[in-house]
Amino acid sequence: MTSVQTLTLRHPDDWHLHLRDGDALPAVVPHTAQRFARAIVMPNLKPPVTTTEQALAYRSRILAAVPHGAAFTPLMTLYLTDDTTADEIHRARDSGIVHGVKLYPAGATTHSDAGVTHVRHTYAALEAMQQAGLPLLVHGEATDADVDVFDREAVFIERTLAPLMKDFPGLKIVLEHITTADAAAFVREGGELLGATVTPQHILMNRNALFQGGIRPHHYCLPVLKRERHRQAIMDVLAEGHARFFLGTDSAPHPRGAKESACGCAGIYSAHAALELYAEAFEAAGALRHLEAFASLNGPRFYGLPVNEGTLTLVRDAWEVPAAYPLGKDSVVPLRAGTHIAWRLK
Ligand code: NCD
Ligand code: ZN
Repeated sequence: MTSVQTLTLRHPDDWHLHLRDGDALPAVVPHTAQRFARAIVMPNLKPPVTTTEQALAYRSRILAAVPHGAAFTPLMTLYLTDDTTADEIHRARDSGIVHGVKLYPAGATTHSDAGVTHVRHTYAALEAMQQAGLPLLVHGEATDADVDVFDREAVFIERTLAPLMKDFPGLKIVLEHITTADAAAFVREGGELLGATVTPQHILMNRNALFQGGIRPHHYCLPVLKRERHRQAIMDVLAEGHARFFLGTDSAPHPRGAKESACGCAGIYSAHAALELYAEAFEAAGALRHLEAFASLNGPRFYGLPVNEGTLTLVRDAWEVPAAYPLGKDSVVPLRAGTHIAWRLK
């Protein structure tokens, strides 16, 4: 059998992305804008984007970093806190530019110290979101000190997410960057209002990649990579072509020094080759025919947005990923630095 040489997809979107701010924007926005028409932009800046006014200002800064000739629309999000009001939610909905509200359990990940201390504190906001049809985007990890780091996602689903869904049966929820068989099964069995994003790293690597010949800070992200059986279970659902799973890179640039450190930050940079990396993972699973729905159709359907016009083409033509890309005055080490990727953007 000859293998496919080109892949043409409806123009895709990234449903989970960190763009940062300031002089990082002109470094990272072009990578995403080359591949994706839209992206759900995470609000975990310092300070976090908690109001519609801040989201509007952040959106303008992002747009100013879009290269001339590229058409890229940032879809903004608010950072949910214990103090988010129903009024703020209605303002967000009315703005037309805010497409979701992100729940970070306090202490779960990078810049989550302003996050939610207990979901019960957010019930007024959740009620308003349910009414307004604004999705809740969830970093699904329990933060209790007694929970093993590899069990945090499964425990969050059981202790927090399932009860929350009972209390808000009409709330749209995206379980972000799923990493376990537990999460894949939970979303698969869930109703029409529950979706999930999947990153490239969680279908390309298992937790061995964290310790390959020594500790590998550039493979460290949250939720942390899991065992092979979890990677396999997620890839299996994607290979079935399930409609409520969609592309969300979680590309999260950190300056090199912040990763290669005694206390390295969580986050993997993948925007430089995001679609190419997914193509590799889908091909390895014999599931290339499902890549387009995952990258370009399932997300818009879930968010109630139109599918993009136009297409994007990948060609089979291996290229070497640079050792680093500039990131403001710093640099960022991308996923697969110094190694080859089989697919290239046409
Ligand atoms: C993200 C970041 O750096 O902002 N890090 C990560 O490991 N994924 C935050 C997040 O999505 O958890
Ligand atoms: Zn993220």
